[in-house]
Amino acid sequence: MGPLWRHPHDPQRGGTAVADAPAPVPAPAYADAIEAALGKLDLDAKARLLAGRDMWSLPALPEIGLKSLVMSDGPVGVRGVRWTADDPSVALPSPTALAATWDPALARRAGRLLAQEARRKGVHVLLAPTVNLHRSPLGGRHFECYSEDPCLTGEIGTGYVAGVQDGGVGTTVKHFVGNDAETDRFTVDNVITPRPLRELYLAPFEAIVKNAHPWGIMAAYNQVNGSTMTEHRYLQNEVLRGEWGFDGYIVSDWMAARSTAGAVLGGLDVAMPGPRTVYGEALAAAVRSGEVPESVVDGAVRNVLRLAARTGALDGVGPAVAEAELPARIDGHALAREIAHRAFVLVRNERGALPIDPARVRTVALVGAAARDARVLGGGSATVFPERIVSPLDGLTAALPDGTLTYAVGADPSDELTPADQGFELRAVCRDASGAVLGEGSLPGGQVQWLGDDLPDGVAYETLHSVEVTGSFTPRESGEHSFGTRGLGGFTLSVGGEVLWDGVQELGSESDPFEAFFGAPNERGRVALTAGVPVEVSLRHTVGDIADAPLPAVMFSFLHLGPQRDADELIAEAAEAARAADTAVVVVATTERVESEGFDRTDLRLPGRQDDLVRAVAAAQPNTVVVVNAGSPVELPWRDDVAAVLLGWFPGQEGGAALADVLLGTEEPGGRLPTTWPAALADAPVTEVAPTDGRLSYREGLFIGYRAWDRSATPPAYAFGHGLGYTTWTYESLEATPASARVRLRNSGARAGRETVQIYLAPTRDGVGRPRRWLAAFATVEAAPGERTEVEIPLPRRAFEIWDEESGSWTFVPGSYEVHASHALDDPRLAVALDVS
Ligand code: BGC
Repeated sequence: MGPLWRHPHDPQRGGTAVADAPAPVPAPAYADAIEAALGKLDLDAKARLLAGRDMWSLPALPEIGLKSLVMSDGPVGVRGVRWTADDPSVALPSPTALAATWDPALARRAGRLLAQEARRKGVHVLLAPTVNLHRSPLGGRHFECYSEDPCLTGEIGTGYVAGVQDGGVGTTVKHFVGNDAETDRFTVDNVITPRPLRELYLAPFEAIVKNAHPWGIMAAYNQVNGSTMTEHRYLQNEVLRGEWGFDGYIVSDWMAARSTAGAVLGGLDVAMPGPRTVYGEALAAAVRSGEVPESVVDGAVRNVLRLAARTGALDGVGPAVAEAELPARIDGHALAREIAHRAFVLVRNERGALPIDPARVRTVALVGAAARDARVLGGGSATVFPERIVSPLDGLTAALPDGTLTYAVGADPSDELTPADQGFELRAVCRDASGAVLGEGSLPGGQVQWLGDDLPDGVAYETLHSVEVTGSFTPRESGEHSFGTRGLGGFTLSVGGEVLWDGVQELGSESDPFEAFFGAPNERGRVALTAGVPVEVSLRHTVGDIADAPLPAVMFSFLHLGPQRDADELIAEAAEAARAADTAVVVVATTERVESEGFDRTDLRLPGRQDDLVRAVAAAQPNTVVVVNAGSPVELPWRDDVAAVLLGWFPGQEGGAALADVLLGTEEPGGRLPTTWPAALADAPVTEVAPTDGRLSYREGLFIGYRAWDRSATPPAYAFGHGLGYTTWTYESLEATPASARVRLRNSGARAGRETVQIYLAPTRDGVGRPRRWLAAFATVEAAPGERTEVEIPLPRRAFEIWDEESGSWTFVPGSYEVHASHALDDPRLAVALDVS
């Protein structure tokens, strides 16, 4: 038994300090400037300000010196107001990867880079970070959220928001709250009892609001306990603004605002996108009819004006961060590479398979379609367009001496057509009904995604009749190439002058219009082509009557699939290449049809024949290293039969360079799992993500992630917090008070390294329904070989509290705890007893 401690009444601040910068402070409130501006606006102008002017911005109001506020996704880059690749952005590793660094200071540097990108593109607010939880591995946007743990999520989110706002750019922490899966996301009513709602799902939002003072929050599509989130008075007005003191603006997720009075009275400030929204004229009318008090509209306008002042969009007041105070310029490519290697999680490394020793390994066989065509980010609104992508093949080719590397496809994760990419040179030509050209847009890939006013110069929906994607295709391989379409409406597809298809794709009676865009591709014909010989290609699309649609948009894709070789032959070829080399590196991956926004996953299997490929390569080559290129967990049924497994997430644009750094040992794989990795989907604690009769009960209560695995008889493949580096650590001593844990440890390996010290609390006896243990705090330390280091990690009071449903308040739980200083959840190195009262 330790001494009887009384917990000091400290703020809720979490365990790690953001080391490279002072703690964020709330930005100025600008009360006088806001009142002065507000006083000059009539009701119509105020109502107009609260509605999107278009897809990404609010109207300017020159009468008060207000510029148009521009918002953009988020979270791994800054797409800007055009959804095309002609305005590229740095693409950082996926949010799961950022969380795997367990380093809020690194997240802060990522945020600062994104602010730099946002400023370059004239963006005032970044639509990020996504801090919903990994309730189930099936969640379609799992890759876009940080972790299954609210403490880790809150700390990484705090660093990220602080960094973006250090750069004078706003954030919208999203999606408030309960958007933990995608199925029926517009309508689902998530039934969450108060305790898990507070202790899990609201907790990251609360930590970020209190510690990083975000300038915005995004209200989710879904309902929570019977009220849709954009109208949720209790959660938005009482909890977020009232209890937590949030002073930013609340923006709807795109098209999530459904009712004028309901939303504005429920606390929603801005309805996006526009111009057709429930605010604007409808809001002015609701005030005139007496349904909505004008004072409520004034409150929302104040919140938007405060955002404008903070981001420098309101003339006459200085922004929250003056030019002279902006952080020093960051090299985006270097940071993307650093985060990637800091995020890679080495979950298995037998016989020192990694790092590859160039003195001993003369030949490396690289295998896998994703090794050549890397999948560096997840799909949906999180998509940005990087200027370049370094694939594993590029990275290893650059890092290894000539003649060392061989490459074999092995197995393609997708046998479906995907948007035209490699070898295509395309542009989009827009014509009116007479065939006259209205304008042209460059098109680096075969995907047209023009939302709202985001049309090529000179083009307007009123006169737009057809869009032709046209250009040339130079095949990489000879053989039969397939071509196809995705999207609704009339299409004429030709290759080499031959019309492959001329028809109309209709929406099936029960289908969702988005399904035609995100859903299954349609193959329209095949053509035999010769490698290196270019052909002309064209896909003409007749657009329907869209000028009056709620969200005018042109969305369709020109699809392609290269020649399909016999799958067994490909696998045999890869196994042969592996046998002939000293080491094999197999990159396995998910596809855009597996991990994206808008749908959930139905299984965790690697698509295509990739499992067969790994088995065949491993049978041929004992030194087989598997790199998993996926944003969230996948089943790895062969994981004990290969020498090493490296989880690489969606590694961002520099992923291949970072991979070479780690495989060859220039850098250590620094990641620790931010989420438990199940061996099989059936073992995962929560697999229900689809509502029944419109409702999805979070019946598991507090028991998601490791909180649930700790009660299960089946162990996961890899536990929360797991990750091997290239050195070893001896934990020498642990002292704990209720306010902090002090850990001394020594780098007992042969090279310098970084360790993530994880502090878990485990109640010795529990009468209040808590999990067996939970993460209370963490910190990263660095040390040279043989060097000792010591770290004092603050323990937040909240770690000892539960949400008491009866009193509706946080309650401190006195009693006996064990404090664990751990390398991973399942690898506690030291424990001490701690009694608190
Ligand atoms: C997503 C948001 C995103 C918004 C704007 C929505 O579909 O849920 O995360 O910020 O679109 O692109």
